[in-house]
Amino acid sequence: MIKIIDCGSQLTQNIARRIRELGVFSEIVPYHTKTIDILSKNLEGIIISGGQFSVYDKNAPIYEKKVLESKVPILGICYGQQSIAYLLGGKVVSSENREYGETIVKRIKPSKLFKNLPSVEFKVYMSHGDIVKNPPKGFEIIALSQNNQVAAMQKGNIYAVQFHPEVDHTENGRKILENFVDICGAKKDWDPTKDYDRIIAEASKKIKGKIGIGGISGGVDSSVVSVLINKLAGKNYHPIFVDNGLLRKDEAKQVMESLKPFNLDVHYIDAGERFLSKLKGVVDPDEKRRIIGHEFINVFSEIAKNIGGVKYLVQGTLYPDVIESVPVYGSSSKIKRHHNVGGLPENMELELVEPFRNMFKDEVRRLAESKLGMPKEIVWRHPFPGPGLAVRIIGEVTPEKLSILREADAIFIEELKNRNIYYDVSQAFAVLTDSQSVGVMGDEGTYEGIIGLRAVTTNDFMTSDWYNFKKKDLTAIANRIINNVKGVNRVVYDISQKPPATIEWE
Ligand code: XMP
Repeated sequence: MIKIIDCGSQLTQNIARRIRELGVFSEIVPYHTKTIDILSKNLEGIIISGGQFSVYDKNAPIYEKKVLESKVPILGICYGQQSIAYLLGGKVVSSENREYGETIVKRIKPSKLFKNLPSVEFKVYMSHGDIVKNPPKGFEIIALSQNNQVAAMQKGNIYAVQFHPEVDHTENGRKILENFVDICGAKKDWDPTKDYDRIIAEASKKIKGKIGIGGISGGVDSSVVSVLINKLAGKNYHPIFVDNGLLRKDEAKQVMESLKPFNLDVHYIDAGERFLSKLKGVVDPDEKRRIIGHEFINVFSEIAKNIGGVKYLVQGTLYPDVIESVPVYGSSSKIKRHHNVGGLPENMELELVEPFRNMFKDEVRRLAESKLGMPKEIVWRHPFPGPGLAVRIIGEVTPEKLSILREADAIFIEELKNRNIYYDVSQAFAVLTDSQSVGVMGDEGTYEGIIGLRAVTTNDFMTSDWYNFKKKDLTAIANRIINNVKGVNRVVYDISQKPPATIEWE
């Protein structure tokens, strides 16, 4: 296994995923982990992540210097490179030419890390203010950036790069990580579907003879985990589907329909009015999320009480949810309050059953298809946020706005499916803005709502690009929305990348 020392970068998870995709198990540990705990028996390599700090910051995540004396290969990325330089006596300074986004680097010395790269110069993704001015003694510079700064350096078993090989924007990024895995001599035998028997055995032991509950949202994780536990627990397992009134057009019906073949005894609760009344007058997105999360717990607990004798709660928690709880000051988790809807009703004192807590979403998808025989429509559904359409209506949520957004969104998604684009896009949706604009229909002037369309491609939802529609497709979709959805006279297409934008608008 390769361990990743997390210094608080939003991209740490990407590193772990990439390494696992290469067939090597990888695990993330916080920067303050003791060296002795990092150097486990099966350790084949260490990667030190990026982070938002300068090594000179008072609260900088500085790991133990002893880590760098380890015999296994080490790769520092961004802050990882700077911290290696700092700890080993090099000089790190704040740069006059900050490098953000795409830039070109040039290899200047041969290195195993760059083995078989197709070109001397290549495009990389950078995001840093500090630079390594002087590498530590004995290190050689193996690549330079456009500004002639240290883009990569090495000495013995220690390698470091200033750019981010773990993001798709970096050309040859995967190859560089693969080269590092080869340098480590790591065994490429990790396969999440091989973990199935262990997952089943562990879950079975936990739930044996006991009554349990779990939330169903229609999303991949909650559906897959419910199908899995239902297989093991049968009638003792009670999946609960709380319809919060913020779902897309016909979504509740579709979810129930798609789960039918798996014989789940779903408790369907229509709680729309409860949620909407609580959201009256609320415009702040964080407040919306908080209210929805809170109400969900209320409804969920009531049902659990009615079922009675409940001992465990099944959750589709994934590895990223677990990692996000590692507290690194100023870390990515502070950017937006989310992934918290459906949180555990704490006072219920239930045992948690989270069979996928070591897995990434794509690993769960592979398992769902190969081991549980679940169909593409469930497994490859676009993700949908817990707070639902409430965060896709800018401003106050009202039944009228919900109805406009539902119609527009349904047209958008239907068109994507009809045009065979749906599975090329990672996530697509409509947003109802809080603006009105002037238009003309026939001889009449209009003053109506603006729909925003968003379609993104991404491997990890941490970074994303906008989907490049053919003009005829986008035109047809916009026209169909304007002609059919009353209250809308303008459609705009969102061409922001993440970062700096996020995928959702709120
Ligand atoms: P952002 O907007 O942060 O979204 O770029 C990344 C992914 O997370 C989803 N998302 C949420 N999911 N509750 C959720 O369960 C939320 O509050 C929430 N906000 C964003 C978003 O749809 C995308 O897939």
